[in-house]
Amino acid sequence: MRPGSTLLLLILAISSAVLTLASSTTVLKVSHHHKPLPLVDPRIVTFCNQTNHPEICIKSARLYGAKLRVIDATNVFNMLIEALQDRTHVIIARTKAMAKTQTSDQVLTCIESCLEYYNDAMDYTKEGVDAFVAGDVGTFITRLSAAITMFSTCNDGFVDFSIPNPLEEQNDRLMNMAGNCIAIGKLNFKGAY
Ligand SMILES: *[C@@H]1O[C@H](CO)[C@@H](O)[C@H](O)[C@H]1NC(C)=O
Repeated sequence: MRPGSTLLLLILAISSAVLTLASSTTVLKVSHHHKPLPLVDPRIVTFCNQTNHPEICIKSARLYGAKLRVIDATNVFNMLIEALQDRTHVIIARTKAMAKTQTSDQVLTCIESCLEYYNDAMDYTKEGVDAFVAGDVGTFITRLSAAITMFSTCNDGFVDFSIPNPLEEQNDRLMNMAGNCIAIGKLNFKGAY
């Protein structure tokens, strides 16, 4: 091999190393910019797999799971409740905004009823958490089930008027989230179930 080509190979090797560095830096920058959601601890997935809607439970864990120091049924339950309450708040705010731009009286009537149902759902959820803390599994399940009923009653209003329901997808999501809270909450009462 001529000395010249050795030099060329060396230059190629160095420049490809620099390119590799440059591209990994770029990847780091990009992933920092579009911050990826954290991976979910498989121990949380084991809990989520015991719900009726594991994928929704895992999504909550992506947003709230990273801060769990200990992964047990109580902490996973608290995480799911926080996710449910936060989402209900967000939906209440969106629904209020939606009410302001409504031109149809029927839709407005339904939306205003839904805002009341959402407030009731928040109260029932809170009462359910209180019962959970008090170790009263019966009341816990009753209150969380009542919250689910509130979301479904909101949907019923639109069905009764036979009008499109702009809140259906969110209500279904909230019902599934509350159902997951019941499933994981029950795991804390092993003796009773
Ligand atoms: C959870 O369930 C999914 C789908 O059934 C399965 O692929 C996965 O291995 C389960 N994960 C755990 C940790 O149990």
